[in-house]
Amino acid sequence: MYFKNILIEEYDGLAIVTINRPEKLNALNNETITELHEILDELNRDENVRVIFLRGSGEKAFVAGADILEFVDFSQEEGQQLSEKGHYLLFDFIENLTTPTIALINGFALGGGLELAMACHFRIATENAKMGLPETSLGLIPGYGGTQRLPQLVGKGKAMEMIMTARMISAEQAKSYGLVNYVVKQENLIPFAEKIAEKIMRNSPVAIGKAIKSVNDGFKNGIDGFQSEIRNFGSCFDTDDFIEGTNAFLEKRKPEF
Ligand code: COA
Repeated sequence: MYFKNILIEEYDGLAIVTINRPEKLNALNNETITELHEILDELNRDENVRVIFLRGSGEKAFVAGADILEFVDFSQEEGQQLSEKGHYLLFDFIENLTTPTIALINGFALGGGLELAMACHFRIATENAKMGLPETSLGLIPGYGGTQRLPQLVGKGKAMEMIMTARMISAEQAKSYGLVNYVVKQENLIPFAEKIAEKIMRNSPVAIGKAIKSVNDGFKNGIDGFQSEIRNFGSCFDTDDFIEGTNAFLEKRKPEF
C-alpha cells in the first residue's frame, strides 16, 4: 500500500506510524486522516503487530492540528460533516482498536493533534512537547473528541480552562494533569517506548484487546462498563491465551502468546 502522508516501520511486533508532513507541522488534512484509517485498520488486523506507536515526523511537532486551510470556507453543514467523518474514520476508530496504540508526542500536539493523541490508549511526551486545544481562538470548538476526552483525562475544571484560554501547556504540566504518562528526552523517546511495548507484548493480546473494550465501554453512554467487564472476563475462559497463561503459571514458565 502506498501512502503519501504517512511512513510505516515494522519490527519485533511493533509498528511505528509516522505522520509525515513536516513542512505543515504534520497538520491533519483529509487525505492523512483517510490514510491513517487505512493503515491502522490493516495493522490492527495483523496478528504479528502487537503494539502501534503513532508519532509526527521531525522534532518540532506531533501534529499541529487539523489542516486549517481545508476548512476556512466551510458552511455549517460541511463543518458538521468534517467532525462526524473524523470521529468515525480516525478518532473513535483509534480508541476502539484492540491493538495497544500509544501516542509519542514529540513536539506540538494542538487541536486535532492533541485530540489524536487523546484517542490513543495512552501517551508519552518529549520534554519539548507543547499541548493545547486552541480552537476557541479560531472561533471554533474542538471537533475531534476534545470536549469529551480532555475532561475524561484531566478532569472537567482543567479541561474547561484549557479550552477557554486556548493556551498551551508544557510536557511536565501535562504529566501532572495525567494527560501524558511519561516525559522523556527527545532522543530517548523510541527506546523508552520500546521498553513499555516489550512489557505489553509479554501479555495476552487477546486479553489486552478485551480489556481495552471494557475500559472504553465504561466511558460510553448507555453501556454498563461493569456488565461489559463481566462478559469480557467470561469470554477469556474460551481462549487459547487463557489456557497458555494459566498452564505457564502452573508449570513455572513464561507464557508464549
Ligand atoms: N493547519 C495548516 N497549516 C498549519 C497548521 C495547521 N493546523 N499548523 C501549522 N501549519 C503550517 C503553517 O501555516 C506554516 O506553513 P507555511 O510555512 O506554508 O506558512 C507551517 O505549518 C509552519 O508553521 P509556523 O506557524 O510557521 O511555525 P511556528 O513555529 O511559527 O508556529 C505553531 C508553530 C504550532 C504555534 C503554529 O503553527 C500554530 O499556531 N499552528 C496552528 C495551531 C492550531 O490552531 N491548531 C488547531 C487547528 S483546529
